[in-house]
Amino acid sequence: MTRMISVDPLHPTSDSLQDAVDLLQKGEVVAFPTETVYGLGADATNPHAVAKIYAAKKRPADNPLIIHFATIEAITPYLAEIPQIFHSLAEKFWPGPLTLVLKQTQNIASNASQGLDTIAVRIPAHAVALALIQESGVPIAAPSANLSGKPSPTRAEHVISDFKDQIPMIVSGGPTLIGVESTVVNLTTSPPTLLRPGGVTVEDLLELIPDLVIPESYSAQHPVSPGMKYTHYSPETELILLRNSRQLSSTAIDEIASINGRNPLILCTSSSHSHTTDVLSLGDSLFEIQVNLFSALRLLDEKSYDVGLFEDVILEKEGFTIMNRIEKAAHHVITTD
Ligand code: TXA
Ligand code: MG
Repeated sequence: MTRMISVDPLHPTSDSLQDAVDLLQKGEVVAFPTETVYGLGADATNPHAVAKIYAAKKRPADNPLIIHFATIEAITPYLAEIPQIFHSLAEKFWPGPLTLVLKQTQNIASNASQGLDTIAVRIPAHAVALALIQESGVPIAAPSANLSGKPSPTRAEHVISDFKDQIPMIVSGGPTLIGVESTVVNLTTSPPTLLRPGGVTVEDLLELIPDLVIPESYSAQHPVSPGMKYTHYSPETELILLRNSRQLSSTAIDEIASINGRNPLILCTSSSHSHTTDVLSLGDSLFEIQVNLFSALRLLDEKSYDVGLFEDVILEKEGFTIMNRIEKAAHHVITTD
């Protein structure tokens, strides 16, 4: 049985979190909200607890976990080297949606970092997450609380849908504010490398790391080929990414969506479009689209659509993260000239 407890997301009381803290201290996994997405947390110093995360998520064993802390002072004993840029990034972005990869001292459970000599750390900007970390007294390893391959959870209901009766507890604190996972930056390379775009925009990072290395595979020059080998964040329902959608009329998009007489849902990212097929508007700004992205992908499976058509967005600010997730999630890409 999975117990769901609701807590105040801004001012959680110690009483309301006591059972979750007890479970974490006993080596159990607990799902909890962060500002990005819900996490599936366990004591990062306890290998048995960490193993339960991998088992519940069916996560490949070679994919290491992010370790969550409440303060910088709690992190530094785990770091073998602290580059100067660590402090400036921490000061500007923590608590917040930034994860930093650094050389570690090996004090964390070895299955949390999968034998690497590095550790991924972050301080989340969420009162519930911070209180759980503080009160349990240990760093918390937490991947996103979804089955491996599924869209990340932005609401407690998403966690239930993936883990009902598989984990002892879900702490519900309402919908998450950022809607995508943290940005991951590797500080062990010189200059630092962007490993995953996320809640902190590249534009904001470049202010502190002007020479940040952004791998080619994230760039607009590398369109994703149809029939991609690996899907990630994917709904069961077929998902199509429509490139150059801004240059198309609403009618043209409706025709593409309804091809072969299918029942489509258009995931609409442009307020200037008006469609005749069913539409889910993701919002008027890139930030709103980002916040609503994962619940829109899950909605495709909850309703009886047989295809989802996602209108692409511009590759800047939150749009860079949105396109990174959609390129991984989409089963096919349609490009029109
Ligand atoms: O917003 C987030 O980051 C959420 C919340 C719960 O904090 N967590 C999350 O975790 O998205 P997860 O496990 O879904 O993604 C962790 C990412 C993976 O891409 C993993 O490969 C990378 O961080 N990672 C973890 N440790 C690493 C390391 N030592 N070196 C390089 N990449 C690492
Ligand atoms: Mg994940």
